[in-house]
Amino acid sequence: MPTTPLKNDLFLRALRRQPVERTPVWLMRQAGRYLAEYRATRARAGNFLALCKTPELACEVTLQPLDRYDLDAAILFSDILTVPDAMGLGLHFVDNEGPAFHRPLREPADIARLPVPDPETELRYVMDAVRTIRAALAGRVPLIGFAGSPWTLATYMIEGRGSRDFVHAKRLRYDAPELLEQLIGTLTQATALYLAAQARAGADALMVFDTWGGVLDPDGFRRFSLAPMTALVARLAELAPGVPVILFSKGCAAHLPALAESGCAALGVDWTVSMAQARAAVAGRVALQGNLDPAALFAAPAAIRAQAARILAEYGRGSGHVFNLGHGIIQGTPPDHVAALVEAVRELSPAYQHGAPG
Ligand code: CP3
Repeated sequence: MPTTPLKNDLFLRALRRQPVERTPVWLMRQAGRYLAEYRATRARAGNFLALCKTPELACEVTLQPLDRYDLDAAILFSDILTVPDAMGLGLHFVDNEGPAFHRPLREPADIARLPVPDPETELRYVMDAVRTIRAALAGRVPLIGFAGSPWTLATYMIEGRGSRDFVHAKRLRYDAPELLEQLIGTLTQATALYLAAQARAGADALMVFDTWGGVLDPDGFRRFSLAPMTALVARLAELAPGVPVILFSKGCAAHLPALAESGCAALGVDWTVSMAQARAAVAGRVALQGNLDPAALFAAPAAIRAQAARILAEYGRGSGHVFNLGHGIIQGTPPDHVAALVEAVRELSPAYQHGAPG
């Protein structure tokens, strides 16, 4: 991949905890249904999966939030469930219910015969999207590639859809932990190849969404979420050296000190913990990304600004903070409230960064 010099590398500098003039900001699910232009492009594609599988349209929706707001990073428009889809589970989306698989994992033999997809063939449409977006960005901001964590992918593959109690996945965790470990091992291998291919195609940083890490018991978290993510980060250090990795384990504030030992560059933080506590927990080992409650974006702009000010003050002075939400933007979020947040971070954050007086 030819390297276009980045015009704005604040995000990458913050991940490396190097000096920045202001705190970079991007938002999980910054492209999505809260934007009218996204709904229009999605309608042209026909449905969400078709949008993901058409690189030119995936590129278009990736850039939409950047054209509206002064964001410091772009994130590939795709989904974490592309990997199990490429493993043959048959991903589809049920209206108002979210993702589901035609062929969820039901028998031990289903796990044993899962293939590890070759990203450049079976997931070629994702790599083409990365290449297309990278070219369209022309160095404007860095591009984030992503994947689901092995545990989070396993929950969808075993349950067959989203879940509240994770009964099937957890039964496997308690009844047949070796079998779950086998599944997670295959997913770790597949995810390492997938993320390394995204880096080769032009992703500047990689993020792992461990959305359901927080539903595990502490031993389960260490064995089925943290250990495989640590192995994944180590493999990526070989396959994509120098590309920073962000791990986001939702609902896992108690595990921040352990996560900080994983070898990642940064940890995502949800809104249940203050950035001051999170910073103390990781003790300078990694950068932090977060952590506004996405529901706060439904409040008035003045309240949003006050919350942004609080979070910046809680992180305090110095680099190593990437401003973000604690989870994805909620459907129905007023787009002008997102503008108010991004503006507030731009205006208020220089006081905490390099070159600020005092
Ligand atoms: O952050 C971004 O802008 C990048 C895009 C992105 C999407 N999904 C687009 C999407 C990312 C990073 C994801 C990750 C993802 N997908 C996760 C982990 C992060 C998280 O939010 O916890 C999970 C668990 C999934 C699985 C998934 N995909 C679910 C549960 C849903 C349904 C949610 C819903 O609101 O209906 C999706 C669909 C999906 N992925 C949409 C988008 C924009 C909505 C699709 C649409 O109807 O247009």
